[in-house]
Amino acid sequence: MYRTHTCGELRLANAGQTVTLAGWVQRVRKMGSLNFIDLRDRYGITQLVADEHSAEVNALVEKLGREYVIAATGVVAERQSKNNKIATGDIEIKLTDVKVLNAAVVPPFTIEDNTDGGEEIRAQYRYLDLRRGPLKRAIELRHKMAHEVRNHLSNIGFLEIETPYLIKSTPEGARDFVVPSRMNPGEFYALPQSPQTFKQLLMVAGYDKYFQIVRCFRDEDLRADRQPEFTQIDCEMSFVEREDVIQTFEGLAKHLFKSVLGKEFTEAFPRMSYADAMEYYGSDKPDIRFDMKMNTVTDMLQGNGFSVFDEAEYIGAIVVKGCAGYTRKQLDEITEWVKRPQVGAKGLVYIKLNADGIKSSIDKFYTAEQLKVVADKIGAAEGDLILILSGAKKKMQGALGTLRLEMGNRLGLRDNNVFAPLWVCDFPLLEWDDETQRFYAMHHPFTSPKPEDMDKFFSNKKEDLEQVNANAYDFVLNGTEVGGGSIRIHDSKVQERMFEVLGFSKEDADYRFGFIINAFKYGAPPHGGLAFGFDRFCSLFGGQETIRDFIAFPKNNMGRDVMLDAPSRIDNAQMDELFLVSTAKTEE
Ligand code: AMO
Repeated sequence: MYRTHTCGELRLANAGQTVTLAGWVQRVRKMGSLNFIDLRDRYGITQLVADEHSAEVNALVEKLGREYVIAATGVVAERQSKNNKIATGDIEIKLTDVKVLNAAVVPPFTIEDNTDGGEEIRAQYRYLDLRRGPLKRAIELRHKMAHEVRNHLSNIGFLEIETPYLIKSTPEGARDFVVPSRMNPGEFYALPQSPQTFKQLLMVAGYDKYFQIVRCFRDEDLRADRQPEFTQIDCEMSFVEREDVIQTFEGLAKHLFKSVLGKEFTEAFPRMSYADAMEYYGSDKPDIRFDMKMNTVTDMLQGNGFSVFDEAEYIGAIVVKGCAGYTRKQLDEITEWVKRPQVGAKGLVYIKLNADGIKSSIDKFYTAEQLKVVADKIGAAEGDLILILSGAKKKMQGALGTLRLEMGNRLGLRDNNVFAPLWVCDFPLLEWDDETQRFYAMHHPFTSPKPEDMDKFFSNKKEDLEQVNANAYDFVLNGTEVGGGSIRIHDSKVQERMFEVLGFSKEDADYRFGFIINAFKYGAPPHGGLAFGFDRFCSLFGGQETIRDFIAFPKNNMGRDVMLDAPSRIDNAQMDELFLVSTAKTEE
């Protein structure tokens, strides 16, 4: 037997027992004639001690290095100086024997909660990084979440059904990863961006409550909350309307909050229309942990001869509570911040509501009385600072929304232990793209228009189509889009119309999506669903912005697995076999 207990298990009540533990040597310390070892496994750390009476054991201990794998036998004893930071801190093991199960070379960074290793080196040695506490806790949290998802959904009648990874392209807005087929020369599978079409086909097949914790693949630009392969909790239901879907998955979210974090939500999650989200938060995923709503002040501030405002399509303001005391230097710094290309404003106007009067960067054009009227209208009081951006509407709403988040960060209003869930509803169905002169589906092409907008959907006027709302909803948590879904089209004629609106010729739509249009002719039930981004859900529960630590083996920002050094070249024989042009041949 390698071990009788784990390294996180022993307490004072075990004193006097002879035990054997197995694990990794975190550290060896010599204090006088005593040698101490911190032994680590998945469950915790236990202190081992070799005393001066046992020359044999001491000789063994002195040969140990960091990350050696050992089995240590000894007697549990009360510790002289207790360590209340660890669960086993009241005891230590007085060693009688140590066996080296495997030696280890010196690791390239320290395996401690606060490591000295940089990101790159830790990614290269991911299996060592995974030994550290923060990653271990993240992976454990992920397991617990998955377990609770399966429990809850199974309990309410959902079936977990797997769908294939080698498929035909599903349009979800990103590029596909493709896989060449050896048996079908010159042809490719696509890896699913989501199981969207399959889950709908399962509804046609009569499996009226489906879910799957499933890997999805998208070849898109990466960010902290985006990986090229990521996991969804993908769900679909038949004979449902929007309300049924929202209720069901709000129930799942509440179950997760309660069972994983011990947080109880008794009220319904708030809901907001897409239009309000854009107007008041400048984002389709508002962070409602704090207020600081945006105000449209275009009419209030135009017509005073300040050309920047007079020429602007939109002027928006936020009230930053209690910040009238900001110095010139601080305001200059924020001005530079909003001018960064990621934010995209040309400049920033401020109004300070000081006790001794109003001071602004537009004093030349507005009297204090005029500014006071604006301040009153938008709920700013003495001691507050008003920040204003102006310009093209869509762009400046976005910029002001970004500034709002930044001010929230600076004022510590975005506490990761606070959770503010929200449903955003009533998205437009279509988005016009000037460059390609065509409509794109805002969610995906299987999303149904709202029933009351069906006439407009069949109209040939661009203005009508622009006004069609989708029967879609997003689940937003703390400013992150964690889930999205919709009621689907289940009528083959509506689906055909959708592909027409999106600019597909009849032949093209048939070639790419004939299978689903056809399926809808064989008795498709009304259906709808949603998918949660599982990695994002986990990272938010873990209080982190980046999803990488919640994935055991993630990719870096360039989509590379630096541990495997993938992607990598394949040899010419393999290229030939797959009917790909080998680089060797091109170079000839
Ligand atoms: P959508 O494209 O909105 O919808 O994706 C659902 C959720 O998946 C997460 N997500 C990602 N997470 C990490 N890395 C990525 N690259 C990434 N892309 C998306 C987000 C997002 O909200 N088939 C539809 C769902 C449906 O309609 O039922 C779909 O995939 O949290």
